[in-house]
Amino acid sequence: MTNYDAIADRFDRRYELYRYDGVRDTLNQFLGSARPSTLEVGCGTGHWLQVAAPSASRLAGVDPSMPMLERARRVASTAHLIRARAEMLPCRDATFDRLVCVNALHHFADRARFFREARRVLKPGGGLLSIGKDPHAERDNWWVYDYFPETRAIDRARFAPVRILRGELTEAGFAWAESVEADRIEADSLASDAMANGVIDTSFTSQLTVLTPDEFQSGVARIREAEREADGELHLITDFCLYATIGWVG
Ligand SMILES: C[S@@+](CC[C@H](N)C(=O)[O-])C[C@H]1O[C@@H](n2cnc3c(N)ncnc32)[C@H](O)[C@@H]1O
Repeated sequence: MTNYDAIADRFDRRYELYRYDGVRDTLNQFLGSARPSTLEVGCGTGHWLQVAAPSASRLAGVDPSMPMLERARRVASTAHLIRARAEMLPCRDATFDRLVCVNALHHFADRARFFREARRVLKPGGGLLSIGKDPHAERDNWWVYDYFPETRAIDRARFAPVRILRGELTEAGFAWAESVEADRIEADSLASDAMANGVIDTSFTSQLTVLTPDEFQSGVARIREAEREADGELHLITDFCLYATIGWVG
């Protein structure tokens, strides 16, 4: 399990390195222009609450990590922030038009329970948008998987294929569900730059956070060895998709 309390101060590094334009566009399109009341579940440091704020009539975020929420409070001052878990949302039935969940679903202990909670708190005609990886699609090319091979199996266990998510949404009472490719995260960085920029760090992505110290150190040693063999010109490739799955209430 990722300890977000411990890495809250370094979490936003990803937003300095990658643009996430596809996620931003998908979120804005999902919220639309009717100013829906919106809740982000697993809102973390509030990056997406900040993006959603101009489009929402009422904005709230829940997250179990106090240090993450404290950061969210600074950037999303109009949002009502609550310390809570996705599996037991502290909201009355039919209170929100839109629920949003970005890169968080794979951390929830009980996905089916969250989907039932999401269905409960959504108004008629409302929708839940979840954005995340699908490592089962076998399309990802990512240095994290190459040099820290344990992360591949860990991700296959944590992330469900999007077609399974759609089935689970229907089982939870959503009228229909759809999935689309939302973003493609691409980068090519020299290993030496990645080391200097704090990218090869357990806080950079939860795939590295969940490794044991020995597994992490073995991966770092593999990168250093490959860098020696490449005479200091080792490129770390990132090329993976983020998928949006949307469940609609009838
Ligand atoms: C990778 S971060 C994503 C944060 C934010 N959505 C973003 O994309 O910047 C995952 C977040 O999920 C939260 N989380 C973990 N378990 C949770 C649960 N059971 N219910 C709600 N949030 C949870 C973590 O505390 C963390 O802030």
